[in-house]
Formats: sequence, structure tokens, C-alpha cells
Amino acid sequence: MSLLTSASAPVGVFDSGIGGLSVLQALRHELPHEDFIYLADSGNAPYGDEKGEAFVQERTLAIARWLLQRHDIKALVVACNTATAAAIHEVRSSQPDLPLVGLEPALKPAAALSKTGRIGVIGTRGTLTSEKFSRLLASLAGQAEFIVQPCDGLARAIEDSTARPLPNDPFATETRALCARYISAMGIFGTETGHIDTLVLGCTHYPFAGDVLQQIVGDAVQLLEPGEPVARQTRRLLLQHGLLSSPTPDARTGELTLLATSSPRRLQRAASQWLGISAAVTPINII
Ligand code: DGL
Repeated sequence: MSLLTSASAPVGVFDSGIGGLSVLQALRHELPHEDFIYLADSGNAPYGDEKGEAFVQERTLAIARWLLQRHDIKALVVACNTATAAAIHEVRSSQPDLPLVGLEPALKPAAALSKTGRIGVIGTRGTLTSEKFSRLLASLAGQAEFIVQPCDGLARAIEDSTARPLPNDPFATETRALCARYISAMGIFGTETGHIDTLVLGCTHYPFAGDVLQQIVGDAVQLLEPGEPVARQTRRLLLQHGLLSSPTPDARTGELTLLATSSPRRLQRAASQWLGISAAVTPINII
């Protein structure tokens, strides 16, 4: 962050692909006067199935550096559980002055909400096998029972489904099949004793399959996604650093810049399909 960074600089938001748009939506709602730069590393998505921790760490550090150098961002939201698990500490130590928000599966709120004490957690293999996640799980030992299910292929299917026309979209069919398979592997969902009554969406791609997941687990089960708490945390952090964009009533609405390391049309389509945003996507290259 340069010495000139001010409240008028943009907030960077990054994910492996389209998933972070679910967080961006909440951020734009909570902070309508902020400018946002959303970067999808789609040339390397998905991060969470097979890429491995070292690779995700390297990409996350390179992207944080690039956003600072090219766009002088005033804060960074790592809108990706997998990248947060692999690299948030490294980003923090390499950019100590940069206000930083990471994501982790909402286990604590789930433990507070669950009545049956049985909570399902879905996420990428990278997130759910990380040390960071093991520590989080251990910190809640005895408070609830967590049924943890890595969902290989699900983020990819969601990512690909936006690249295809609906409704006869084979990737949407794949998304539904994967959701059904992983949910049934976890046990019985419902509100009776012994049932799983809360499902934590531990990957930012999964809210885009929220309707499908809700249909499978039933309406009585609560789905927890991170967008709103992350947006509130970002507001607190900006305020704390004196970097909140002027909240005067007549202030202009913030601008949005969309960037992608490949498949710009996919991000454009996803932004329009999911968020109702029609903005051009600029292709970029980060080495
Ligand atoms: N959306 C990301 C997450 O929250 C990553 C999905 C992926 O690239 O595998 O983990």
C-alpha cells in the first residue's frame, strides 16, 4: 500500500473464479459507496480439488501484490476459503499494512444456531484438509458434532454451469447430481434429534447452488453462507483504519471493475446472471 492510499482507493476482492461474487454482492450492499475491484483467477480455477497448498499460496501472494501495485487497493477481501486456508498468514506477513479480510467456514455461528447439535460442513478438499480448518474444528470440540464433507468437482461444476446456456445446461445437471451425492453421504437432515439441522457452505461457489442444496436438505435446515458477516467485518476494518469512503447521503455509488485471468465471458455472464451487473470484464495476466 503506498503512502498516498486514501479512503477513495478501491477495495480488492479475489477468488479462484466466480465464487467470490457471492461475497461481492453482500459487500456492495453493505458498502454501496465503495469502489471494488473483483479479480477471478479463472485461469487456475478450481483451487480446492488438486492444486495443492503451495500453488494456492503462491497465487494468492502474487495476486495480492499485483492488486496493490496496479490498483493501489486500500484493503483486500480474500473471498475464497481455500486461498484463506492456504495463504492468509503469508499475505498478512508480506503486506502488514494492508487491511485484510479472509474467509473461514462459519462453524462458530453454526454451533450457536444449531438445536440438534449436528452440523454439516461442505467445502473444497483444500479447505477441509487444511491445518487452519483442523484448528478451527478443534477449538469447537464438545460444542457440536460436525459432519465434514469435501465436495470434489462441485466448485468446478458451478463455475462451468455459468458458461452454458440455461435451462438445458449439462453442468447444472452435474451440479445437482454432485449436491445430491455429497448431501446423502452426510446423513439425515432435519430438525429431529440426531438430524443435521444446519449446513455450513464452506466455499464461496456454493451459495450459487443454494436453491438446489436447500431443496435436497429441506426447508427446515438452515444454510449458512459468509457474505453478510464478511461485509460487516470489512466495514469495521475500513472504519478502524480511517479508510471508509465518505458516507454522505448524496455520495455517488461505487464503481465496479471486473478482472479475470481467463474466460472473461464466463465472469461477465456470472455477474449478470447472479448479481444483475452488466459490466465488461478485462482479461489480465499475473505471473
Ligand atoms: N470459491 C473458493 C472457496 O471458497 C474456491 C473453489 C475452488 O477454486 O476450488 O474455497
